[in-house]
Amino acid sequence: MIEPCTLVIFGATGNLARLKLIPALFQLEAAGRLPDTMVILAFARRPWQREQWVNEVADMLRAKFPQGLNEVAFARFCTRLHYHQGDLADPEAYQRLQQALAIDSTFPHNAAFYMSIRPAEFSEVIAKLSGAGLLEEKEGWRRVVIEKPFGYDLLSAQVLQQGLSKHLNENQIYRIDHYLGKGTVQNVLVFRFANLLLEPVWNRNYIDHVQITHSETLGIEGRADYYEGAGALRDMIQSHLLQLLTLVAMEPPVMMDAESLRDEKVKVLKAIRPIPQNAVHAHAFRGQYTHGNINGKTVPGYLEEAGVDPGSSTETYAALKVYIDNWRWKGVPFYLRTGKRMIEGSSAICIRFKNPPQHLLRHAHHDQFKPNWILLGIQPNDYLKMEMQVKVPGLEMHTRTISLDASYHKENDQKYDAYEDLLLDVMKGDHSLFLRYDEIEWAWRVVDPIVKVWSMERDFINTYQAGSWGPRGTYRLFDRDDQFWRHSLDIDGGDLQAY
Ligand code: BG6
Repeated sequence: MIEPCTLVIFGATGNLARLKLIPALFQLEAAGRLPDTMVILAFARRPWQREQWVNEVADMLRAKFPQGLNEVAFARFCTRLHYHQGDLADPEAYQRLQQALAIDSTFPHNAAFYMSIRPAEFSEVIAKLSGAGLLEEKEGWRRVVIEKPFGYDLLSAQVLQQGLSKHLNENQIYRIDHYLGKGTVQNVLVFRFANLLLEPVWNRNYIDHVQITHSETLGIEGRADYYEGAGALRDMIQSHLLQLLTLVAMEPPVMMDAESLRDEKVKVLKAIRPIPQNAVHAHAFRGQYTHGNINGKTVPGYLEEAGVDPGSSTETYAALKVYIDNWRWKGVPFYLRTGKRMIEGSSAICIRFKNPPQHLLRHAHHDQFKPNWILLGIQPNDYLKMEMQVKVPGLEMHTRTISLDASYHKENDQKYDAYEDLLLDVMKGDHSLFLRYDEIEWAWRVVDPIVKVWSMERDFINTYQAGSWGPRGTYRLFDRDDQFWRHSLDIDGGDLQAY
């Protein structure tokens, strides 16, 4: 049961709220999952009345769901919406908020504060909330939800954490990595821990390597301000892709509670072999898109995007090879890559198995030997496929690859984005899908040497054409010639090396 609560959204008129948070809350409303007494309070600077905020939310929702809204749910949702005008830097705005939460019976005392604001503002807002007594749990719980990025390197993450811990207990903090809210990502745990037949082969004896890819056709979508200082390594790899890696590589937790789960994830991050600065080029590759063509449309290069420094060496593509030095994974490379303005938008985990010890069917086929693959599609389509070799019907001893498709979505299944689950968990007080500070710190330790080397090498960056699969030089990360990026997830996609 979820207790009555007030969700205060800082930055309620910004992009994240518009595109993700408000639509997710509405989806929860339509599914009847919000508690009866739950209020959504926007904290924003514009001098609006409640009605203007409600109209704004209506516009957000109609843009997000052009097929139409459930009008009954929408009417109910509107009754939850309230607006608090205030400047983030103004202590008085927080005092007024404190009084509203203490006295006004419209607002339940339990409150979650969602930081949908610029990372540089996290510390200040939390200090001001604390100054106004809003984080004291006298009459109900008080929780703070923090978006990524948590710092921009190891040191800044440590400083941010020190700042937070002056005002909050760890159990009041919800650090979001929205990938963990995706049902398909959670399915990695189910796939691994509810299917016994995988466990014996899920290790270095059978797995050749693991690839984790997130590609996007989108560019930076007007976020130059943030992206110029972040780049693909910080934006995607330090957070989302390393989280996916932990789920693939972790040991079964003792229980599925938050601490047991997070203990196991931290162990994986701790076991990642540190990359010394002089080995950065052997482990990491970066690139930046130039203009090109995507889905028949010409798109500008990164350097031509509004707000980008024309001499910028910020990477829009990053690939990384890591090894996990533990009993299960010693010697198995994990290849991670992400890029903007790529040929297609997809996220997937591809696991390639080793070849059988003896090539008994050598004469059966003129092609090279084809290994087994397990493919876990995360988006846009969620699926689970296993590629195996079978005999081609006929008189010859020819083999071909078939795909056992265990995709689990049925046509009428309700599809949710990631934030619905996460917002519900904040209200329930469940930390399982949120990051503990040590996870973030260890993830920074993995990428920090690369961040340092790349930030010193500002004169040159490899490029790739928008609408391609990224820079060619990225292939040098592979340990062997027979390893290559798995672009297509269709049968025989493993053979594709095309650009
Ligand atoms: C965000 C990044 O965290 O994740 C964006 O800042 C990226 O740059 C986005 O586009 C990808 O998330 P999703 O859910 O669209 O795959």
